[in-house]
Amino acid sequence: MDVSIDHKQYLEEINSFEPKSAEELEAFRLKFLGNKGIIKQLFADFKTVPNDQKKDYGQLVNEIKNAAESKLKEFQTKITSAKDSKQSSIDLTAPAYPIRFGSRHPIQIIKNKIIDIFHKIGYVVAEGPEIEDDWHNFTALNTPEDHPARDMQDTFYISDSEMLLRTHTSSVQIREMESQPPPIRIITPGRVYRNETISARAHCTFHQVEGLYIDEDVSFADLKQTLLYFAREMFGLNSQIRLRPSFFPFTEISAELDVSCFICDQKGCPVCKGTGWVEIMGCGMVDPAVLENCNINPDKYSGFAFGMGIERIAMLKYQIDDIRMFFENDIRFLQQFSTADQ
Ligand code: DAH
Repeated sequence: MDVSIDHKQYLEEINSFEPKSAEELEAFRLKFLGNKGIIKQLFADFKTVPNDQKKDYGQLVNEIKNAAESKLKEFQTKITSAKDSKQSSIDLTAPAYPIRFGSRHPIQIIKNKIIDIFHKIGYVVAEGPEIEDDWHNFTALNTPEDHPARDMQDTFYISDSEMLLRTHTSSVQIREMESQPPPIRIITPGRVYRNETISARAHCTFHQVEGLYIDEDVSFADLKQTLLYFAREMFGLNSQIRLRPSFFPFTEISAELDVSCFICDQKGCPVCKGTGWVEIMGCGMVDPAVLENCNINPDKYSGFAFGMGIERIAMLKYQIDDIRMFFENDIRFLQQFSTADQ
């Protein structure tokens, strides 16, 4: 058996091979070096070669193998480096990647809207600390220790100290009344904390806006008109309001404010639970005892206060049924609040 003719042909074919594409190179690899390729076959034929030719045969097949392997290597590096240089070259005619705009958090959008609404009727923003003392969060607000009203809010106390995390922004009322004489007209947006089990309806941290107006001759009618104005600006000009008697230690008289359901126009829907009304805040006339605690003469001055949860207003306005969404920072949720609302 003379193998030298095939051998020469293979060598020639390999040496003259000049692939023009990665596909051609791959076809070459399969033909010579693949599992079912020529070189495999040549090695398999080894056992049929007469003994005296085995040595020469083996050398020749090895030569073919080496030639094929080095050819493959040479072009593999050529092709990949050509690809790399293509990728790194900058195509100035390519369209730019679209730029994604950020959007404001829905709580921020609603907070800004509330501030805007009250700004128009002369209210200014006031802020206070989130870590509060007992006096400003409870006692000055007519809620002394052992008063059952303290059970209305589960408080986070800071261990080994007199301090706590404020349970409401009503604490800012006290700070403002202590620091300036009437007239006072403020709204106080801010974060509050309660020791609540987290659920779709409740969270251990959320936001409130408190409002306070103290002057001579402020009446319940002023409160009602102010809240009607707010409801119409926030929920639509056809909104109606109703006040239901309630209890808060720091107001006397106290009320709960409902707004006519703006989702179903009072026809009855899941948001208003078929009643046509949704509750949006607590309010009332500031208790004279609270004024006295802040050294304001209740015979001369009177005022009203109100407090609402920003999450609650946002949930109603955007029809969000799980308060936890506000705190998860899921970009798919946050992207839905358009810049037009901001
Ligand atoms: N501070 C109350 C709360 O957190 C809300 C509130 C009710 C504020 C009545 C007020 C008010 O100013 O008059 O639930």
